[in-house]
Amino acid sequence: YKDLLDVDLLTREEVQRIFQTADSFMEINNRSVKKVPTLKGRSVVLFFVEPSTRTKTSFDMAAKRLSADTFSLAKGSSSLTKGETLKDTVQTLQSMKIDAVVIRDPRDGAAKFAAERLNCAVLNAGDGRHAHPTQALLDAYTLRKVWNGEFEGKTLLILGDIAHSRVARSNVHLLTKLGVKVRLCGPRTLLPPRLDSWPVEVFHDVNEAVKGVDAVTTLRLQLERMQDGLLPSLDEYSKLFGIGVKHLELMNPGAKILHPGPINRGVELSSELADHDASIILDQVTSGVAIRMAMLFLLITRND
Ligand code: CP
Repeated sequence: YKDLLDVDLLTREEVQRIFQTADSFMEINNRSVKKVPTLKGRSVVLFFVEPSTRTKTSFDMAAKRLSADTFSLAKGSSSLTKGETLKDTVQTLQSMKIDAVVIRDPRDGAAKFAAERLNCAVLNAGDGRHAHPTQALLDAYTLRKVWNGEFEGKTLLILGDIAHSRVARSNVHLLTKLGVKVRLCGPRTLLPPRLDSWPVEVFHDVNEAVKGVDAVTTLRLQLERMQDGLLPSLDEYSKLFGIGVKHLELMNPGAKILHPGPINRGVELSSELADHDASIILDQVTSGVAIRMAMLFLLITRND
């Protein structure tokens, strides 16, 4: 495959290969080796039309630790502000003979649109509500370590604003493919339509949803995508759907708490739980660099 647009097209074997490639970069990721020349002379464009802290920084770090050159293109400082279309922007990049574009855009399908017009690798860093494949890969990679490589028989709850979440969609695809039972829980107004066709169990009561799970991914309310009058009161939301340390008692022993970030402390999860030993939120960030090194390496060198 030339691009990483979502995880649904990846086979289990391809996912394992990505994990093993990430493992092979362990020494760079733990900084005992600072940099390798693997992608020396390659050019990676970081094209972020939406804000990002984790994804952009970790793609940038991943590329630089493999010795690729990175170039940032942001909405505010690019000709997008002068009305240039995505098509013209992409054609401009194509003419610069680059090796990869990492793209984040508020529109569903933007990464696919770019991939169809570029010869180089396109890595989706989040498109609208649609997909966030490297987030799902890094989440699964983090859980693989905690669960000693065993996904079968484990249960993960994804809790919160599922309707607006590309992270939830990509996680459902990937984790069910790996054998994890996935539960979803959130207010009815923040669940996507046609959930019947999703391979998940749906809950509306948090105390029921967390019973017997091995991990919980908490999600932020995506207020920036709620122009449709669905905005709940934050107080009411946190009382009904926020989780805290007391919820750990209902989960399986050793259960872990994940969050893709950014966190709204005190809304979807308490500050105490975010900083608790059960939280692996910062391990997710560390895994993100390894997974992004693996994806850049696999896609850029696919024809070498
Ligand atoms: N998880 C995630 O995509 O975070 P950023 O928006 O900070 O990149």
